Amino acid sequence: MEIAGQAVLVTGGASGIGADVARHFAALGARVTVIDIDREAAGAVAAEIGGLAQDCDITDPAQAETAITAASQVHGPARILINVAGILIPGRILGRDGPLALEAFAKVINVNLIGTFNMMRLAAAGMAGLEPLADGERGVIVNTTSVAAYEGQIGQIAYAASKAGIVGMTLPAARDLARSGIRVLAIAPGLVATPMMLTLPDELQQALGQSVPFPQRLAAAREFSRLAQHMVENVMLNGEVIRLDGALRLAPK
Ligand SMILES: NC(=O)c1ccc[n+]([C@@H]2O[C@H](COP(=O)([O-])OP(=O)(O)OC[C@H]3O[C@@H](n4cnc5c(N)ncnc54)[C@H](O)[C@@H]3O)[C@@H](O)[C@H]2O)c1
Repeated sequence: MEIAGQAVLVTGGASGIGADVARHFAALGARVTVIDIDREAAGAVAAEIGGLAQDCDITDPAQAETAITAASQVHGPARILINVAGILIPGRILGRDGPLALEAFAKVINVNLIGTFNMMRLAAAGMAGLEPLADGERGVIVNTTSVAAYEGQIGQIAYAASKAGIVGMTLPAARDLARSGIRVLAIAPGLVATPMMLTLPDELQQALGQSVPFPQRLAAAREFSRLAQHMVENVMLNGEVIRLDGALRLAPK
């Protein structure tokens, strides 16, 4: 699908990878809505790119529906959803203080997996009613998983489970939505230089970068955005998860 002129929804667009996706797609000529729970930061990114900000918790069905409807009223119905919002709460199954709190596990699953699904189901409902483009295509959804879905480290039980859920949804979602001409893909980044990573001491950032076989550095958010762009543009890509990790395989810790 050609990106210029399309209405695009970017969750987690207020920070890090999502903010770069919002900037990149806006620069490609899309009308971007930044959907994020951080109202102030979402507003700042939207103002910078001439887009729209929607203050929304992706886990809340009513808030998500309101955000998608508001975006559609301003930009027209979205054919592209890039789901980037996510959280990480570390913790071992059995920590020094006993078993991991069930609420902590449930919170990560709720935001990363159920929130991603919530946005996907609502955005797909809007896309399914649109006129088909070339090849009968109506929409594209790109979700964000992680290499932790395959090699979750010590203390990443909830995060790894939530991201494995996103991997598991990719093919059945593509199959479910095929009759509507909607493609579903996912990107599994390794280590990406986002504001959170950039607050780590330089030596630690370098050490992390050197754990990547090639190139020996953290990925740039722009490398994610460029893959998301290609996924949207290449109609034959569907139902697949692509690792973006420089051949990194995470060690146990
Ligand atoms: N940075 C990395 O190295 C890395 C590696 C692999 C995967 N990822 C994944 O990439 C995505 C983005 O990571 P990042 O490093 O840019 O993180 P980030 O913390 O900079 O950005 C995440 C954004 O999601 C938003 N968000 C969180 N919960 C939300 C909710 N319930 N509703 C709406 N918005 C919500 C936050 O407000 C924030 O703006 C995440 O899904 C993360 O798991 C990141």
